[in-house]
Amino acid sequence: MTPSVSENKMPVPCHIAIIMDGNGRWAKKRGLPRSAGHAAGAESFRKIANYCRTLGVKYLTVYAFSTENWKRSQEEIGGIMRLLGTYLNEAIRDMEKNRVRFRFFGDLTRLSPQLQKLCIEAQNRSKDYDVQVNFCLNYGGRDELVRAARGFAQDVKDGRYAPEDLTEDLLAGYLYSADVPDPELIIRPSGELRTSNFLLWQSAYSEYVFMDILWPDFGPEDLDRAIAEYHRRNRRFGGA
Ligand code: FPP
Repeated sequence: MTPSVSENKMPVPCHIAIIMDGNGRWAKKRGLPRSAGHAAGAESFRKIANYCRTLGVKYLTVYAFSTENWKRSQEEIGGIMRLLGTYLNEAIRDMEKNRVRFRFFGDLTRLSPQLQKLCIEAQNRSKDYDVQVNFCLNYGGRDELVRAARGFAQDVKDGRYAPEDLTEDLLAGYLYSADVPDPELIIRPSGELRTSNFLLWQSAYSEYVFMDILWPDFGPEDLDRAIAEYHRRNRRFGGA
């Protein structure tokens, strides 16, 4: 058996992002409703978030609901939102013990008022903690860039900036991820080989690890494998 990341004393990436994909197929294989796949996916998330914390990963970003996921049935959307609500209630209850900071990337205004309230409460009450989980909720990478462009355009209109003041760093400050370092490693389980509008700006130099496993089956040993694969890559950032 290969040693785990912690046994091997392998350095861990500071920021890991995950596209939690394959819940529907996991459920279908078992003759279960899609909601059962999402419930199992939420369990995988709990396990992986805890494992990341023990490894010392500073930022974990997960794609929980995209701007495109509204095309799904009301039943499925409602199920995912309920799981998120349950999780956030637990997180708020256990806040002192776990000391995890929560941020939300995405336009929360389309969520139910109750869920918005939970997101705001989790975000406000955890703002002084260090280890951070970023939930991408009603998130799309293109939407994020459009909002950033609008934010800058408004600031130009209001006289705070001139168009030529815009730099990469300045634009990054208008993104949901302002102040969060870019992810070194992005993991996509489920065998799909695409980025699906996830962290378009932030992933410019991320290492992608695609894995042939469905998210509800994904465990700490799979995270170890992804980190080991990341260490085998030769990151040159455009240099020779
Ligand atoms: C993609 O798999 C998954 C989603 C769109 C939802 C992810 C949501 C969760 C894991 C639960 C959220 C709750 C917490 C607490 C994190 P898919 O349904 O597209 O899978 P498929 O491609 O096999 O159909």
